[in-house]
Amino acid sequence: MPRVFSGIQPTGDPHLGNWIGAISRWADEQQPDHVFCIVDLHAITIPKPPGEVREKTLDLAMWLFAAGLDPEVSTVFVQSHVRQHTELAWILACTTQMGELNRMTQFKEKSDGKDGVSAGLYTYPTLMAADILLYQTDEVPVGDDQTQHIELTRDVAQRFNARHGETFVIPKATIPRAGARVMDLQRPEDKMSKSAESQSGAILLAETEKQTAKKIMRAVTDSGSEVVAGPDKPGVTNLLDLLSAVTGRDIPTLEADFEGKMYGDLKKTVAEAVNDFVRPARERYAELEKDPAEVRRMLAAGATKAGEVAEQTMADVREAVGFLQ
Ligand code: TYM
Repeated sequence: MPRVFSGIQPTGDPHLGNWIGAISRWADEQQPDHVFCIVDLHAITIPKPPGEVREKTLDLAMWLFAAGLDPEVSTVFVQSHVRQHTELAWILACTTQMGELNRMTQFKEKSDGKDGVSAGLYTYPTLMAADILLYQTDEVPVGDDQTQHIELTRDVAQRFNARHGETFVIPKATIPRAGARVMDLQRPEDKMSKSAESQSGAILLAETEKQTAKKIMRAVTDSGSEVVAGPDKPGVTNLLDLLSAVTGRDIPTLEADFEGKMYGDLKKTVAEAVNDFVRPARERYAELEKDPAEVRRMLAAGATKAGEVAEQTMADVREAVGFLQ
């Protein structure tokens, strides 16, 4: 059985891209030994107002459990509760080359034109590599935007193994067939993002069905009137990709369904399908919200389980690096 690990940052508001690219797949495919982490240490690479990380961490945990992650099956925990993440991150920072970090497109995008960029934002991929390698992970279910970080994780793991002896499993990314990069509904050339300045192009998990439907009905479409995917139709392509992701039907089949129909018909169908897809989780979230103490208890149990696996790996790593025991 492949070991699965993935993570999500408690920043901004979780959206449909996170849901389709990551969270809903984690829940649907969960097996014992699968590990999912709310990466609060990653969230502080960009300064946040006091209390925000704590609040967003608990909220995101509710969404993960609302998605159907079962603490009796999967391990769900908060990154800062398992100290081995930071310990391994330092060792991997010493295994990673600056040239490799310089090539990371996410760092370039997030630091571009900004003053006072933190060293943490720059070394972020070494912490992400530590997250993955601590659990001897085979597969990392993520959206397409994380593939470069996972390639780096593979390179770093291979370098460590070559230097110190076989220590880490070499992981690979698993990307969904549809919805690997859900695009912003107002700017379909940009991905849907937690940090987007305007939320009119992002479907938030926490919004109402009415708000979701309104955003989809107002989505930017393209010239022409045929409902077909293609590079000259980024808006329509995104809507078809979304519909494919939430219904499991492929794009050619959907295009055939919409032959002779209009963009408005497509939007109406997408709005209904997206609301159907998220509804059960929205309902469970409303229940979980009433009992934050129970959510914290589940996270604490997750941290204990994760910590045991992490410590086994760290014991091997300390030995492999050659620290005095
Ligand atoms: P984050 O928090 O930005 O996103 C969480 C997950 O959601 C996916 N995602 C998307 N998928 C499709 N379309 C979109 N528009 C979209 N936006 C986000 C992301 O690909 C991701 O799978 N660096 C990671 C967090 C992380 C991590 C890890 C992930 C830290 N350590 C170890 C995997 C393994 C991040 O910032 O994800």
